[in-house]
Amino acid sequence: MAILKVSRLGHPVLRSPAQPVPPEEIASPGIQRLIDDMIETMREYQGVGLAANQAHVSKQIAVIEVQRSPRYPEAPEVPLTVIINPVVTPIGESMAEDWEGCLSVPDLRGRVPRYSAVHLRAYDRAGHPFELTAEDFFARVIQHETDHLNGIVFLDRMENLSTLAHLAEWNRYWLG
Ligand code: NI
Repeated sequence: MAILKVSRLGHPVLRSPAQPVPPEEIASPGIQRLIDDMIETMREYQGVGLAANQAHVSKQIAVIEVQRSPRYPEAPEVPLTVIINPVVTPIGESMAEDWEGCLSVPDLRGRVPRYSAVHLRAYDRAGHPFELTAEDFFARVIQHETDHLNGIVFLDRMENLSTLAHLAEWNRYWLG
């Protein structure tokens, strides 16, 4: 496995909608290795999710995992989840605002409104379709990662930029 270089804000790949993966190609060695490398990269940088275009690959693949992350110390755990060609539908209209950061927008945090619960339809890494419903932080990460695959970053979802904070100041003034 390899740790991939993460694209940062300003790289056009982050602003281009990613291409769907034909389901019959999911099992190919190239896609499987990409998924393994994305998992390795997410863990290396202590992210809670990573979209393929953050690894300079414009394909609709994202990985999510929350394991007591130092970047998000209060987040509940989420098992490793690979989502391919995700379709996200809000459940209800309830929204909640919370802090988000992004490996492609390094060292910044801001408060982002998201749907509190979503329904997800996607393919898993074995090429099987699956569905799940997610709430709260898991729902937030799903929305953040699927946004990436549509060329959207969390800054676009902020109601205004007044809460945008450098991580060092956030740790000092906002954490806990
Ligand atoms: Ni991100």
